[in-house]
Order: sequence, then structure tokens, then C-alpha cells
Amino acid sequence: MACALPHILFFLLFLQPLSTVAQTNGTVATGASITATDKAIPWLSPSEDFAFGFKQLQDKDLFVLSIWYYKIPDQTIVWYANPGVPVPRGSKVVITANRGLLLSDPQGGELWNSETILNDVTHGFMNDSGNFVLVRSDSVTLWESFKYPTDTMLPTQIMESGGVLFSRQTETNFSRGRFQLRLLGDGNLVLNTRELATGFTYDAYYWSNTYDADNTSNRGYQVIFNETGYLFVLRRNNRRVDLTPKLAVPTSDYYHRVTLDFDGVLNQYYHPKTATGNSKWTALWSQPDNICVDIVGKEGIGACGFNSICTLNDNGRPECSCPEGFSLVDPNDKYGSCKPSFTPSCEEYDRGSAEDVYGLVELIDTDWPLSDYEQLRPSSEDMCRKTCLQDCFCAVSIFRDNACWKKKLPLSNGRKDANLNSKAFMKYRKGDPLSPPTPQSPVPDTKKNDRSLILVGSVLLGSSLFVNFVLVCVIGLGFFLICHKKIIKIPNSDSAAETNLRCFTYTELVEATGGFKEELGRGAFGIVYKGVIQTSGSGNAVAVKKLDGMVQNREKEFRTEVLVIGRTHHKNLVRLIGFCDEGEHRMLVYEFLSNGTLASFLFGDMKPSWSQRSQIALGIARGLLYLHEECSTQIIHCDIKPQNILLDDCYTARIADFGLAKLLLINQSQTDTGIRGTKGYVAPEWFRSRPITAKVDVYSYGVLLLEIISCRKSVGYLEINCGEEKAILTDWAFDCFLKGRLVDLVGDDTEALNDWNKVERFLMVGLWCIQEDPSLRPSMRKVTQMLEGVVEVDGPPCPSQFSFTG
Ligand SMILES: *[C@@H]1O[C@H](CO)[C@@H](O)[C@H](O)[C@H]1NC(C)=O
Ligand SMILES: *[C@@H]1O[C@H](CO)[C@@H](O)[C@H](O)[C@H]1NC(C)=O
Ligand SMILES: *[C@@H]1O[C@H](CO)[C@@H](O)[C@H](O)[C@H]1NC(C)=O
Ligand SMILES: *[C@@H]1O[C@H](CO)[C@@H](O)[C@H](O)[C@H]1NC(C)=O
Ligand SMILES: *[C@@H]1O[C@H](CO)[C@@H](O)[C@H](O)[C@H]1NC(C)=O
Repeated sequence: MACALPHILFFLLFLQPLSTVAQTNGTVATGASITATDKAIPWLSPSEDFAFGFKQLQDKDLFVLSIWYYKIPDQTIVWYANPGVPVPRGSKVVITANRGLLLSDPQGGELWNSETILNDVTHGFMNDSGNFVLVRSDSVTLWESFKYPTDTMLPTQIMESGGVLFSRQTETNFSRGRFQLRLLGDGNLVLNTRELATGFTYDAYYWSNTYDADNTSNRGYQVIFNETGYLFVLRRNNRRVDLTPKLAVPTSDYYHRVTLDFDGVLNQYYHPKTATGNSKWTALWSQPDNICVDIVGKEGIGACGFNSICTLNDNGRPECSCPEGFSLVDPNDKYGSCKPSFTPSCEEYDRGSAEDVYGLVELIDTDWPLSDYEQLRPSSEDMCRKTCLQDCFCAVSIFRDNACWKKKLPLSNGRKDANLNSKAFMKYRKGDPLSPPTPQSPVPDTKKNDRSLILVGSVLLGSSLFVNFVLVCVIGLGFFLICHKKIIKIPNSDSAAETNLRCFTYTELVEATGGFKEELGRGAFGIVYKGVIQTSGSGNAVAVKKLDGMVQNREKEFRTEVLVIGRTHHKNLVRLIGFCDEGEHRMLVYEFLSNGTLASFLFGDMKPSWSQRSQIALGIARGLLYLHEECSTQIIHCDIKPQNILLDDCYTARIADFGLAKLLLINQSQTDTGIRGTKGYVAPEWFRSRPITAKVDVYSYGVLLLEIISCRKSVGYLEINCGEEKAILTDWAFDCFLKGRLVDLVGDDTEALNDWNKVERFLMVGLWCIQEDPSLRPSMRKVTQMLEGVVEVDGPPCPSQFSFTG
């Protein structure tokens, strides 16, 4: 018995500090260690918000020494040691008195340490702020993880001039990636890409404008993420430049972090501290606005790899894809470079057989702006195709505004963006397995399949007569077979669900509508008739829209747009059931909605209640947000007005007529485009030669929102209290705002007056949406957040005080 005592003493002395003290108040004594195993116990902060220790990776034998949010299911990592390089099972971290944190491999070989510290470390401390500190006996902090940030900043963290955040390689590979956030000596906070081997920095794609070449006291010198969740650049003269817009969720209830994501986008996220089942990180703001187009360095590869094409998805994040005829160099790295499946040989050109060997694929609104070697101006579209096809150096030619650019490999900074108004003619080798019309990618890429449908049409335009003929036959047969089966199956990239669009014959629709007898309405795109179709024995009411004004020979566009519309699924959108495309008969078949249009509801005899109206306003905002940011192809509506909002049985707002605007445009480019949209709802940029973006819908939505709040039409004589008359609702709304008389807008609507905070918030959002300068208008995501009250709404500027630049 006597010899057992030393053992017990040993256990008491050695284990107790490790297992209990380390867990309770965040303090970890020198000598304490953690070994990387499945069961490794991390060191927790007193509140247990943060943990320090080994995080196991997907490859179960690799671990990263890191700090993470301990209480939320995601356990999001905010800091990592050993610049993100994982360590093997059995590695160990120990707090040493004179070297601080020491990370060693299972054999004891040193892997990393927290810089050499000559002073005596007495303990480590995992602070509730997420900062791990090493402290001396006199409480002086010798080292802290906040001073060596990785890709994330947390509230109370400060970045000094010269500080850097590095993106990860990928979501799960913590090694330093190719994007950086730096606070430069001249005071500017910039985002830039870098060359991986040497770290050479390329041109910035975002900068905070906090530099001052002449006046050092005006330069930014610190980036502060303060305890209330605001990130700002502090100038030497103590002025602040806020990067965080006003927030409505406080740091007391929400975790906040600013992370340079692996794809190069800087995001501020928040997450409720008491996590419920499906709570997740929500992005509050991000920079840059559009990384696909904002990176334009002469060197370097852009947001996506060489030869790749970048598209902005929901949340403003980039997605990369290889064009036809190219495949990923590393099949596991979707954001990496694409390699061509062939290298054009100039010998084939010498033999004069180029056109038999190569074809061109047309890509709409796609460009690689920096790889050109020749420019033809003026040029026709046809000339632009031919010149590339006949030139053995040319990989792709871009046609825009009567000019043509020829480009060579590798192509860099590829992007697809509706504002480009360009066409790309991409060369492919006929018979090549990766080329259209049957792309075979080593990685399953569902998007590609939809695209091939579009491409089939494009190839028609680009190749020789004989090939055309053969293709016409094949496609004809294909569509015959598809229509015969009555169902087009399109893989949906967003969900596993498939889209079933029914392909109707003209005769079927004549029958369904009783010979187009009952007219439901007329719009910019044609007349809508009521009909009944048979589905599994029962009759279903439908609305059949006969399209007129369709440009001839636009079969390709028609099918493309129909597929795009068919892929949308949202409870605030009218659902497309099918279509007819027979000769000149182009029709769309929608579900029938019983409660008519918002126009008749809003301006009818019975004024709808405020609670109904506010629900409708929110529904429309969510529908538009989906169209702009959440469906696989961005859809700009271009004609938002109460006549185009339908109400279903439950008076849920459903947006109609979306996805049609493109079908009627003569040409994609702005100059040839007639103004779409309806008087009173049309954004000012339609009248000026400015690019048309999703912000035109935001404008129209703003007008609509004011109508919904006030129950008055946007144009027409409005009677105002003292006999005064105003013709334009938007002007009047601003008058009321400037005079501080917003209440005038709701008149004697007591229900609305009793809910004044919400009404006022909605009105402010409306006034933000109708700003003349599109860049001042919020995105629909922001609009939705403001309406929901998640984000606070500032007072809007008066639209006339901003003149239109450019
Ligand atoms: C934590 O607990 C240890 C041991 O009980 C004590 O020495 C230390 O002062 C405590 N630290 C803090 C920050 O409360
Ligand atoms: C923990 O962090 C907060 C905020 O940065 C700081 O005020 C506090 O002093 C820190 N606590 C310790 C024990 O270092
Ligand atoms: C992370 O990426 C780097 C560079 O591509 C690679 O060398 C490393 O093996 C990757 N790490 C892991 C854990 O996959
Ligand atoms: C530098 O800027 C500060 C204000 O930020 C101003 O007060 C000061 O006069 C300026 N100095 C010079 C030399 O322009
Ligand atoms: C944090 O910064 C914001 C914006 O600059 C400021 O309004 C707020 O008062 C700051 N919070 C604290 C605690 O200083």
C-alpha cells in the first residue's frame, strides 16, 4: 500500500492542472500540452466561446493547430498555426517558458513556434475574444494570436500598418492561397492577388482610399474591428473610414468575424451565439462588389484559373468553370486553371483545311479582357468569327461594339457578366471529346449540360454549311423526340430536383383555351388567355401567354430563356408549366392564379390591410432577390409593376413575366435596345447610355413599394391634403421626407399609423431604391434585410443632389 501513495500524489499534482484548471478559467500553465488525437481536449476560454487545440481534418490523420468557435455546430476556425500546414496524428503543442508555444511532430522534431520569446512565459490564456495570449508573471503579454492573424479578424482585433490576411487555398486547405488583404504604408487597405511561389503581389482589386500621398497625418494606419462589430480604417488624425455599414445585430448576441475567403472575397459574417438547429453564418457585407470583373491585372490569373470563366453567384461569390474544349488541370480544384484539349497546329492552317478541323462556340457576355494580341475595328460579327477561325494563333475572338479582339492562350481573368454586352467565339477542334455538343468533363458539372443546349444552337451559326445541315437534322430529331415524350428533363445545378417542362403542341393549346377565347390580360409581351389542361385525369387551370414581337430566327434564345425560366423555383414567382414552340407559335403556359393582379388589389374599391400589404411587399422583394442572386442564371425582370405581380389563393405575391425581357431585345447591347419597362417605373439609366443592371429592378421595386405603402398610383393626379396636386408619387414622397411629413403618405390608414416604425422603415427603403445613381441603390438582398429589420436603415439622400456621372 505504501508504494501506491507517490502515484496518487503524482496524479493529483500532474493531472489536476491539466484537466480542471485549464478548462475552467481559460488559464493554461506553462508545461501544459495537447497531443493531436481523436480525443484531444482543447483549451477553452472562460465562456467556452473559443477553443484552442488540434482540429481534425477530413483526412482523419491530419490536424491543424487552431482556434475555433467552440459552441456553434460549425466550429468555424478563426486562426491556425504553422501557416495552415496540417500536422500528423501524435503531434504535440506545449507551452514552454522561454519559447512560448512549441509545435512538434510525433518524433519530437520542431515544426513551429510562436516566434522566439526570451522572457519567461508563466501561462497561456484563451481569451473570450478569441485571442490566445502568452503572459509573463507580471501580466505583461508576450505573444498573442491577434498579432499574427491568418484569414480572419475578430472584434477587438487591430491590424497595424504592414499587417496581412492571407486567404486559404481552398475551403478545407489552410495553406496560404493567392489572395491577400494588406494595410499598406501609404495608408491604403487593399486586396490583391499574389504569385504563390515567390509571394510577388499583383495589382490591387479593392482599395479603401485611405491613403494620402502628401499628408501623412491623413493616412490610414490601423484597421480596427471594434468590440461593437464595426471594421474601420483609422487615419493618423483619428478620423475613421467605416467598412462596415450600420449593423442591427449586436456583438452581445451575435458572433462577428471578417474573413478573407479562399475565393478572394472579404466578408463580414454574423452568427447567433445561441445556435438553433439551422442557424448559420450570414454575410453582412463583402468586398469587392464583383470579383469576377474587379480583378484586372496584366499578370496573374484573376479570380479563377487560366482559361477559366468566372461567374458571380448568390452572395457575390465567384464560381469558376472551364469553357468547352477545356478541362480542369487539377480535377479537385474547381477554382484552378483549365487546360485545352488540343493545341491548334498552324500546319493544318497551311494546308487550308482549318475550317474542316475547327469550329467556333459562341459564348454570350463572356470575355478574357487581357489576352488580346490583335484588334479589328471596325468589324462585323461575321468578320470577327472568320478572322479567328482562319488564324492559327487565335484561341478566341470577342465581338463588341463593332470591334473584334483576337486572343491567345492562356486566357486570363475570364468572366461572364451581363454588362459585358459581348460575344466570344471560342475555337474548338471538331471531334474532340471535350468539345460541343457532348462535353465530357472529368468532374461532373451539371451546369455544363444546360449550357450544351445553348451551345448546340451557337454551333449552328459557326460552322460550315454541311455541318449545319447535319446538325439541323440531329437537333430537329432531338427536339422531336423530346417533344414526343412531352417532358424536357434538365438537370438542376442548385438542387438534385429536376425541372419538368411540358412541351405543348399548338393544337393542344388551342383546345386548352377553347380557341383562345377567354382573355386574362394584355402586356408588353402579348395576350394572356385562360385555359384548362388535363393532368392525370383532372383539369388544371392555366394561363397561356401568346408571345408576339419575338424577333425572327431566335429559336435558340427562346429555348434558352424558357429553360432559364423553367429552372426557377420560388414561392414568390409564378411557375412555368410548359411552352409551345411550333413555327411562329411561341407560347408559355403558366399556372393560373385566382386572385388577379396586385394592381387591381391595390387600387380597387376595397383598400387591402396594411399587414397584407407589407407581406406582399416583402414577398416581392424575396422573389426579386431570388431572380437576381439565387437562381442559377441571373434574371433581370426589367418590368416590375403592380400589373406584373399576381396574387395566389393566400394572397401571396407572385412575380410574373420574368425572364422575358431578353427575348424581345433586338440586340444585347444597350444602344440598340428600346426602353423596356413601363412609364413611372423605369429607372433613369434606361434614358442615358448607362449599362442596365439588376439595379433597374431595384428602382422599379422602390416605386412599387411606395405604391403599396400609400395605395396610390405612381403616375396620375394624386390628391393631397390641402387640395394640392402632385403628378409623380416619387417626387411627392421625397417632398414629404424632406419636410419630415412622411405620415402624409399613408393618409388616414390607422392600421399603418399604429405600426409606424415599420411603415417608416419601408418608406426609407423605398426612397433608397429610387436613387438616381444605381450604385446608391441597395441590392435586393440588402433591401430584404432592411425590410425584415435585420439591418438598420439610414436616412436616404435626396436623389437630385447626386448628379449622374459617366
Ligand atoms: C485561473 O485559475 C488559476 C488556478 O485556480 C489561478 O491561478 C488563475 O489566477 C486564474 N486566472 C484567472 C484569469 O482568473
Ligand atoms: C481579453 O480580451 C479583452 C478584449 O480584448 C481584454 O479587454 C481583456 O483584458 C483580455 N483579458 C485578458 C485576461 O487578457
Ligand atoms: C494544400 O495545398 C497545397 C498547395 O496546393 C498542397 O501542397 C498541400 O498538400 C495541400 N494540403 C492539403 C492538406 O491537402
Ligand atoms: C493634413 O491634414 C490635416 C487634416 O487631416 C490638416 O489639418 C493639415 O493641415 C494637413 N497638413 C498639410 C501639410 O496639408
Ligand atoms: C465602433 O465603431 C463604430 C463605427 O466607427 C462606432 O460607431 C462605435 O461607437 C464604435 N464602438 C465603440 C465601442 O467604440
